[in-house]
Amino acid sequence: MAARASRRKCCSPRLVGMTQRKSFGSDNHAGTHPAVLRAIIEANAGDAVAYGADEHTERVTAALRATFGAADAFLVLNGSGANVLGLSALLARHEAVICAESAHINTDECGSSERLLGTKLLAVAAPDGKITPELIAERLSGRGNDHFSQPGVVAITQSTELGTCYTLAELSKIADFCHASGLRLFLDGARLANAAAYLDCSLAELAECADVLSFGGTKNGAMGVEALIVMHPGLADNVPYLRKQQTQLASKMRFLAAQFDALLHDDLWRANASHANAMARRLAEGAAGVDGVDVIHPVQANAVFARLDPRHIAALRHDWFFHGWGEDESVVRWMAAFDTTESDVDDFLSAIRSAAGA
Ligand SMILES: Cc1ncc(COP(=O)(O)O)c(C=O)c1O
Repeated sequence: MAARASRRKCCSPRLVGMTQRKSFGSDNHAGTHPAVLRAIIEANAGDAVAYGADEHTERVTAALRATFGAADAFLVLNGSGANVLGLSALLARHEAVICAESAHINTDECGSSERLLGTKLLAVAAPDGKITPELIAERLSGRGNDHFSQPGVVAITQSTELGTCYTLAELSKIADFCHASGLRLFLDGARLANAAAYLDCSLAELAECADVLSFGGTKNGAMGVEALIVMHPGLADNVPYLRKQQTQLASKMRFLAAQFDALLHDDLWRANASHANAMARRLAEGAAGVDGVDVIHPVQANAVFARLDPRHIAALRHDWFFHGWGEDESVVRWMAAFDTTESDVDDFLSAIRSAAGA
């Protein structure tokens, strides 16, 4: 794991590498769920035709289409790739993307949408990570003026980068506004499972608002796979070509498919996400009771954002791995994963109590 130099997410260099204790840095720090590993091993028997023309991929993409009520589903290697591919399916060359300032596409993908697609991101301030029709409307004033990038797509994230979730009603308000305004809606679903678990709804209900969305496997217990879900048939036609052009077409696709096979079986994805959410809630409830610690966003998925004295953060970092967040040195993100245990959380809480009391 490489140290990140950015001020947005900063970590203790001492703990770079394998962490001894459970990491609260990211759900990406967790290993792979045993059922996913078993599915990869089972898929390893014999040869299979490459680039997705194998029975695992056919079965899994059919299952994803049925689960989402979608026109098509495409497996890709990572979440940034899913975002670029999804946006490329929706954008004309002169069009821009309206998104929250905190959106992963805006803050954490090295400008890939702008560099690779030549689009412009029109970021709006959304203190809780959620954008609204009113915020979208503010970015539409240049429409029809050929000196301005023309907003063509709205990109939202569910659950958001700040650990909050759009309600189904909020999603449908955004979708209605977008469709009435001639805008397409892309949803970054790197943590869609966590939102479905929090809202106790189906993936199809979450997807209904979107034209194209991603569905994350990696943060949910996969080794590394995401799905791009295309809700309307006309939008899927170019995706196979765009996926290859964007280097997201895996040759040994069966191993990507096997991972989703395991996550979809008996809704393992939901169990993993519910567990991660519950661990984040346990952490937030415990931390909120510690003097000097403020939980600053509603904990609706698997992330806890907290404010505490930077000296206490430094003390806690002595033994624990987590990221600071944004420009404010007193804000941290603690994240739970499918394999975080109650005792991991309780040990971390004891450390928070002693750091804050120190
Ligand atoms: C909301 C969101 N979208 C997309 C991604 C990108 O995923 P990847 O790191 O697999 O490219 C991340 C990764 O942290 C994320 O948090």
